[in-house]
Amino acid sequence: MDPNILTPQLMAAVIGAGPAGLFAARELANNGAYVFIFNRDIKPGGLAEYGIYPRKTKMKEGLRAQFRQLLATPGIEYYGNLVIGQNGDLTLDDLRGLGFRGMLVAVGAQGTKWLGIPGEHLDGVYHAKDLVYHYNQLPPYADMEFHIGKRVAVVGVGNVMLDIAHWLLEEQKVDEVIAVARRGPAEIKFDKKELESIVGYLDVPAVQMEIQRVTPQMLNLGQDPNNLRQLIADALDKAAPVNAGRGFRMQFLASPVRILSDSSGHVNGMEVEQTMLVRTANGETAAHGMGLYQTLDIDTVIFAIGDQVDSSLGLPTTGAEFTKNPQPRFPVEGSSYEVFDPAAGKPIEDIFVAGWARKASTGLVGLARKDGSNGAKALLQYLATLPPQPANIEGVRARLRALPKPLVTNADLVRLEQAERERAAALGVPDFKFDHNLEMLEVMGLIQPLVK
Ligand SMILES: Cc1cc2nc3c(=O)[nH]c(=O)nc-3n(C[C@H](O)[C@H](O)[C@H](O)COP(=O)(O)OP(=O)(O)OC[C@H]3O[C@@H](n4cnc5c(N)ncnc54)[C@H](O)[C@@H]3O)c2cc1C
Ligand SMILES: NC(=O)c1ccc[n+]([C@@H]2O[C@H](COP(=O)([O-])OP(=O)(O)OC[C@H]3O[C@@H](n4cnc5c(N)ncnc54)[C@H](OP(=O)(O)O)[C@@H]3O)[C@@H](O)[C@H]2O)c1
Repeated sequence: MDPNILTPQLMAAVIGAGPAGLFAARELANNGAYVFIFNRDIKPGGLAEYGIYPRKTKMKEGLRAQFRQLLATPGIEYYGNLVIGQNGDLTLDDLRGLGFRGMLVAVGAQGTKWLGIPGEHLDGVYHAKDLVYHYNQLPPYADMEFHIGKRVAVVGVGNVMLDIAHWLLEEQKVDEVIAVARRGPAEIKFDKKELESIVGYLDVPAVQMEIQRVTPQMLNLGQDPNNLRQLIADALDKAAPVNAGRGFRMQFLASPVRILSDSSGHVNGMEVEQTMLVRTANGETAAHGMGLYQTLDIDTVIFAIGDQVDSSLGLPTTGAEFTKNPQPRFPVEGSSYEVFDPAAGKPIEDIFVAGWARKASTGLVGLARKDGSNGAKALLQYLATLPPQPANIEGVRARLRALPKPLVTNADLVRLEQAERERAAALGVPDFKFDHNLEMLEVMGLIQPLVK
């Protein structure tokens, strides 16, 4: 046990080691709790490691350094390669049984969101999250096969769409990417900075015509069509170099209704319904179908419409998220971090949520970090209401050791990083990332050497 921790009275579990979980763990440990972090992936970082676009090497390295520091905080123990949930290695009830008096669930939003339209299950139709995990080399997605054609519709106009378009245009060398938006140019969610990486591929005349086409609707709603024009012009000023012969365009006011295939089951089109925008009671805009249909000539469809939480964790869900207590006992900055059981009509006392597990697909690393810290603050308020009880740290360790699989500790991660550096040097490349769990476990010395 860490000598700095004299007699810990509180033991807390943080489930998930993305930015939210890691910053939550530090907040808890700095305030007297002894923290066990349980993470599905071998490596910490979540989407910061396995979501952020691979070419953002500086940002990713900076975050890795920060995470290394967090994991070295006295009073934090990391266990990777451990899934919590109903079908996992341990359930939330198991953790309760081990003496955890409070748990912070920071598992992100691991489920995929779909529209439920015909054709979604065809080969050639994918969810962005699976592709993002694939190209960021997360096992087992790293090994999965995706059949990407030449003309790809990406549904959604957020930053994930841009990342996917980037990968399609540069790594998959597709001919054309069409970003399909159910609403208009005023409702795009992507940023200028992120657009710079692929704006050079943009078919500017086609997008200008598209903006022109939807201008009457925008003016009706008091929206300014020049905002997107300006954003594109600004991004073009800083456009990254591109390869000739590949194009990117956007189609607005188009809601997918059906994905079409040929007689052998290959995607050969997507039917979209033209929409019109209406102003809602809360001042937002909503897309209403107009009963007019068009078929886009594409051979692959990727949904970049956000994610939802994984209900197999064993917590109640509402929409894309875990259900939160509408009247929090321990609000932080006005938000509820408490899980609520609608069937029982009361909060699940000891379980708190933070990060994308609390608000699916919302915000950048900085926001997840803050949300993790705030979730920990809420949990600390709850823990302060409990009578002191010595933490059963050895009992937890013994149970973890008894699991029929190797778990990865912070010390093991140091060996993994060293092995990756050595492999990069041997291959003469700037960096190297293992993309199989068995290989990682082998180089950390946690399993017998694999027979090659
Ligand atoms: C494609 C993409 C690109 C992005 N690019 C950027 C960017 O460039 N800059 C930026 O600032 N932000 C970016 N973001 C946003 C950023 O990645 C998120 O805001 C942040 O990672 C969310 O943190 P989190 O901790 O809530 O969840 P996550 O990062 O998803 O972490 C969840 C963690 O929980 C673990 N876990 C999951 N299920 C279980 C389980 N059952 N048991 C135990 N552990 C579990 C996972 O292994 C993972 O480590 C991007 C997001 C995406 C999707
Ligand atoms: N490089 C980066 O900095 C980076 C990269 C990736 C992700 N991120 C961040 O990660 C978060 C998630 O990004 P995201 O792109 O997944 O989400 P997002 O920004 O919310 O965009 C989702 C897109 O999907 C559309 N959509 C949602 N439901 C739909 C439906 N039922 N039918 C049709 N379209 C639908 C949305 O349209 P409506 O608006 O009409 O709902 C929107 O265009 C964001 O905060 C983002 O900034 C950042």
